[in-house]
Amino acid sequence: MAIRKMRVVGEDDEILRTRCKEVEQMTPKIKKLIKDMFDTMYEQNGVGLAAPQVGVLKRIVVIDIGEGPYVFINPEILETEGEQTGNEGCLSVPGKFAVVTRPNRVVVRAYNEDMEEFVLEGFELMARAICHECDHLDGVLYIDKMEGTLHDNDELED
Ligand code: CO
Repeated sequence: MAIRKMRVVGEDDEILRTRCKEVEQMTPKIKKLIKDMFDTMYEQNGVGLAAPQVGVLKRIVVIDIGEGPYVFINPEILETEGEQTGNEGCLSVPGKFAVVTRPNRVVVRAYNEDMEEFVLEGFELMARAICHECDHLDGVLYIDKMEGTLHDNDELED
């Protein structure tokens, strides 16, 4: 188990705002990175984490919304549909939440840890997580898309 240092807004903006590079091939180092990303995400009770959040500028995302772990390498969103409006948080914006509107359904194509291509359809929280994490790979944070202001809890305000 290896926890990596979380990069946060205000301190690590240069890293968080950089477009990440595609993964060309799987290496033992990248496998270790993915394992550490899960360890780091679970330790902080997150449901998703992108590699730049631990300081690595590669197009790698991990997600677990409670339905098991998913790894997305070089993810590309192929389709989006509908919308959902709700609170969102980010381990790089600790202790804060804000309302963001996202698609309610997404279809994403990516590679797994063995660099095998797959296509996944996600709804609701999974769709939100995929959009949020893919944004990280382009240096985009949810605070760029929030409606209203940041707040300190994840309760919806009237
Ligand atoms: Co985030």
